[in-house]
Amino acid sequence: MKFFIDTANLAQIKEAHALGVLDGVTTNPSLMAKEGITGKNSILKHYVEICNLVDGDVSAEVNALDFDGMVKEGEELADLHDQIVVKLPMTKEGVMAAKYFSDKGIKTNVTLVFSAGQALLAAKAGATYVSPFIGRLDDISTDGLALIEEIRLIYDNYGYETQILAASVRHTMHIVNCAKIGADVITGPLSAIHGLLKHPLTDIGLAQFVADFEKGNK
Ligand code: E4P
Repeated sequence: MKFFIDTANLAQIKEAHALGVLDGVTTNPSLMAKEGITGKNSILKHYVEICNLVDGDVSAEVNALDFDGMVKEGEELADLHDQIVVKLPMTKEGVMAAKYFSDKGIKTNVTLVFSAGQALLAAKAGATYVSPFIGRLDDISTDGLALIEEIRLIYDNYGYETQILAASVRHTMHIVNCAKIGADVITGPLSAIHGLLKHPLTDIGLAQFVADFEKGNK
């Protein structure tokens, strides 16, 4: 399973990379705005900075809503760096653009996916990644993990190579449960990844080892 971090914050990306388990980064227009990254040049420069910090795929989202605009923006993004994945919304135009880019061998991530039918369309269009938003489904009393299970079943039935990128991951148990179901990738905050480290018995055991070592090595 791949771990992506879902942020445009360079310090957090560096910290996740330093742990040695980071496989890529996802961003979206809200995450860029949160970091105060506005204006075309600053946005493009920021994507390059992110690519230079990590080894894997970096999803950069188009802002255009029409097909021609998505193609123009996506081509500009893809030209920035070979780690860039063009992120496209799950709309009719987004699906058409995913097909356009996949035919050209450019990686895509179809985002804002909330149903198995949408995920099926993204795979048919040849998307590299499909991003079902599990946290946002949980927020409205709908089982986000059940959607991952449905998509896994459909993709396995037909051998689709589109990778299931479980997005809107909010906490550590989302990661563990996505791993059980067979999501290919998760993207979430650094705190959710750090949560995997924690167990009170590890802390108690380590404190004991340290105390015993110090007793015998005074
Ligand atoms: C996906 O790529 C999105 O950036 C993201 O996971 C959305 O998460 P949120 O629901 O926590 O905003």
